[in-house]
Amino acid sequence: MKILLIGSGGREHAMAMKLKSGPDPVELYAAPGSDALAGLGTCLPFAVEDVSGIAAWCALNRPGLVVVGPEVPLVAGLADAVRGEGVPVFGHDAATARLEGSKAFAKDFMVRHGIPCAASMTFTALEPAEAAIRAWSLGLPIVLKADGLAAGKGVVLAGSREEALATVRAFMAGQFGEASRKVVLEAPLVGMELSLHVLVDVDADHAAYAVLPPCQDHKRIFDGDQGPNTGGMGAFGPIPFLSPADLERLRRDLVEPTVAGLRKDGLRARGVLFLGVMWTARGPELLEYNVRFGDPETQVLMELLDEDLASLLLEVAEGRLRRDSVKLRPGCAIAVVLAAGGYPEGAEKDVPIALGAPEGVKVVHAGTRKTQEGWVTSGGRVLNLVTTAADLEAARAKVEGAVADVHWPGMQRRRDIGLRALNHAAAGRTVADPFL
Ligand code: AMP
Ligand code: GLY
Repeated sequence: MKILLIGSGGREHAMAMKLKSGPDPVELYAAPGSDALAGLGTCLPFAVEDVSGIAAWCALNRPGLVVVGPEVPLVAGLADAVRGEGVPVFGHDAATARLEGSKAFAKDFMVRHGIPCAASMTFTALEPAEAAIRAWSLGLPIVLKADGLAAGKGVVLAGSREEALATVRAFMAGQFGEASRKVVLEAPLVGMELSLHVLVDVDADHAAYAVLPPCQDHKRIFDGDQGPNTGGMGAFGPIPFLSPADLERLRRDLVEPTVAGLRKDGLRARGVLFLGVMWTARGPELLEYNVRFGDPETQVLMELLDEDLASLLLEVAEGRLRRDSVKLRPGCAIAVVLAAGGYPEGAEKDVPIALGAPEGVKVVHAGTRKTQEGWVTSGGRVLNLVTTAADLEAARAKVEGAVADVHWPGMQRRRDIGLRALNHAAAGRTVADPFL
């Protein structure tokens, strides 16, 4: 089958490897792709948001499936345009992608459908927002969210009213352009954070979904969850202290009402929903929707899935998903991000990477470029080391054993991916208990 994959990062490289590993041959195209993806297929010079260019290519070249990695093209209507050409797309319509593209829209959806989430207010003018902050009584930090897409930088946890006031002023003055002229203020949620991915196929006449194993990401740059936020420094799954009853609770409290809500609102869904969840003292609550796979959660999920990815995504793309589960491999998977010097504020680019042949791990390329001399850094998150083992402890050990084979000046990585979860499980603590 001819497949066009939209994107260029680690998520897409991991998906491409999985797509190519199935029983049927895959002729892979990637837009815009990367030098690593060029090793698996043909890269097309389209920016991810070039809706008309990509749709025209699809009309002419008739791929059997288009898989959209990032959220930006979905919000821009790429899936609608390509579907309009009669080509199956794994990726949501623009109307559905607003669940990620507008925080205010997502909060309205959650409230309308009784999905547990933090109390919030939406503002489009500065004065009432400032007044709400001065009168704030929902606890600290005050959570401020730019309504639109802001490349993962649109959420600020303000530790004081002063900081919240400064943030809301910057947002509304256009820090993220139009995306931050509408602002959501939200009460803080305290608890255990997790990433829940669900394949969803919802249309006027059916609503099907399959829940993937919950993962945990590590957002801060330094060990012990210290330092600034990043796109994610490492992930693992499944979560060892999550019980079958906990999974059932996630399904009942968050997934079911989401899928029912999509159908009630006439929102067609043909892709993945990634629910950012906080397990609070009251139970699981929804932090946010993403309409795409997480990165680096995808790298973990691709290892855990015991399915032909192309067939599975095509089932969703063609509106034929009629099962509620996917086949999984036993054990645990982990992805450790190797990041460039200077990340997350910037990224030292064009630094040559000493890349050996680390044993027992997959090397996923997230931000690299190939030169005549070899691979060099070209983004913040550069490589991921990904592996599976019988359990989390063994998976962590496998990555540790391999990491010495990859290096470059300034390389940053966390050494504690999955460590807190491992200790948590060993101590017999549950998802309702905070990390020690
Ligand atoms: P995002 O950039 O939208 O992925 O959100 C960034 C992070 O902000 C989330 O992963 C949470 O850790 C945190 N966050 C978002 N909303 C809340 C909230 N209401 N309470 C506490 N933390 C939050
Ligand atoms: N790893 C978090 C995200 O993809 O948003």
